[in-house]
Amino acid sequence: MDRFYITTPIYYSNDVPHIGHSSTTVYADIMARFNRLVGKEVLFTTGNDEHGEKVYLTAQKGEVDTQKYVDDMALKWEEMWKDFNISYDFFVRTSNKTHKEVVQELLTKLYNKNDIYKAKYKGIYCVGCEEFKTERQLVNGFCPMHRKDQISEREVENYFFKLSNYSSIVKNKIESDEIKVSPDNKRKEILSRLDEEVRDLSISREKEQFDWGISIPWDNTHTIYVWVEALMNYYTNVKILKKEEFWPANVHFMAKDIMWFHSVIWPSLLLALDLPLPKQIFAHGFYNAEGGLKMSKSLGNVISPQKLIERYGVDGTRYLLCFSMPYENDSEAGFNLFDKVYTADLVNGLGNLVSRTAKLAEIFGINALNLREINSVDLKELLKSSKYGEIEKCYSGYRLNQLIEKIEKLINDVNVFINEKAPWKDADKTKAKENVINAINQILEISLLLTPIMPSISSKIINVFDKNKIVAISPLFERIKTTENK
Ligand code: MSP
Repeated sequence: MDRFYITTPIYYSNDVPHIGHSSTTVYADIMARFNRLVGKEVLFTTGNDEHGEKVYLTAQKGEVDTQKYVDDMALKWEEMWKDFNISYDFFVRTSNKTHKEVVQELLTKLYNKNDIYKAKYKGIYCVGCEEFKTERQLVNGFCPMHRKDQISEREVENYFFKLSNYSSIVKNKIESDEIKVSPDNKRKEILSRLDEEVRDLSISREKEQFDWGISIPWDNTHTIYVWVEALMNYYTNVKILKKEEFWPANVHFMAKDIMWFHSVIWPSLLLALDLPLPKQIFAHGFYNAEGGLKMSKSLGNVISPQKLIERYGVDGTRYLLCFSMPYENDSEAGFNLFDKVYTADLVNGLGNLVSRTAKLAEIFGINALNLREINSVDLKELLKSSKYGEIEKCYSGYRLNQLIEKIEKLINDVNVFINEKAPWKDADKTKAKENVINAINQILEISLLLTPIMPSISSKIINVFDKNKIVAISPLFERIKTTENK
């Protein structure tokens, strides 16, 4: 059986999830479900990035013990993923004992190979990104992604990884698509950044500064730079789970902000370690608030995933996240847009289509035996039909926004078909019944195509028609009643 290993970033513990985090995780979940449905053996991991200065400082601020703080936060994140019906196989936490041990082994290997050396370094550090910034990444001397007080000049004596020895090899591998960086605009960005000088990477922090992380195995006064051990989670996961056969990963999912770490630093570390490279890095764009403003806590325009679920249900929210996926470019997300799409596509579109056909099936006495046996059709077979070639392409290219467009068209086509045939006024009852059966068969196929995106709704729809006596149903999607509570 083919294997498929897919990962999300491991999110910093110092924050609660917002729409951006949930979108990446939902997209990865959809792809994990899709690959399971087409018969692959899937490993899907997510988790929390628990070390580093930012997490440490947040716990300090709340006067909580750091370990207790990350323990509590992990519960919150896991609960949130349950709410979203995320089917991950493993939730990694970087305070995990085996993670720490494997990371230390990997670092020792790099040190013994002379890929690590000690040196002094002076530069501009953004604690929000947990990264030394180059001049080119700053705007007027500040990080465009984080508050001004997150930036400071630092002089450190740290251990460095010889990134510069590997970056040109990585560049070749990206150019030849041995490491597929996608979408294409992100690949171009990375390649153009690789045209500039790549400096070695500082990979340790003095414990004097803060003592929260994994110790450098040969020097107990330093901890390992949070990004290095975080990237390693993708590999330590298969060690923890004793599923080494899943390495290398098929795809790492994320947004554009952390693409450099994944497409350049991570492959360089793996090359130095003589480990196989991930096959693909997929980085979508960012969500901005309606009106194009950056979403930020201080502007108070961050969309909470819980609010989305309260308003649109779990499957409705998953659908809306796909609809608005910032595939290549950034996109906007907000309740005005989502209300409109939810009502048009789900309440009046799919929901109404299922209700009206169920009613027609009741009138015409149609039962499951009249329909194609949906349980015996699998997604893999269905996608072989030329009718769904485009859908297959959208799934395998992770173009979930386009996928929604295509499915929306299929739904609309069935609605138009029913309107045109108007079985309720057709004098030829046999023909009318045939037309209703035809419409239901198409709905069943659409439900199967939608299963990775809306798993509960899809199985609900299949259930409606999987009956000896099909009867009218109550609406699948509740209408939005008020404009309050956004
Ligand atoms: N801990 C690191 C990742 C280490 S992975 C080895 C980190 N964590 S994070 O909590 O900041 O998460 C970054 C990721 O959150 C982005 O790559 C993206 O998946 C998601 N998003 C956060 N804000 C986002 C938007 N506004 N829009 C879309 N996704 C964004 O970086």
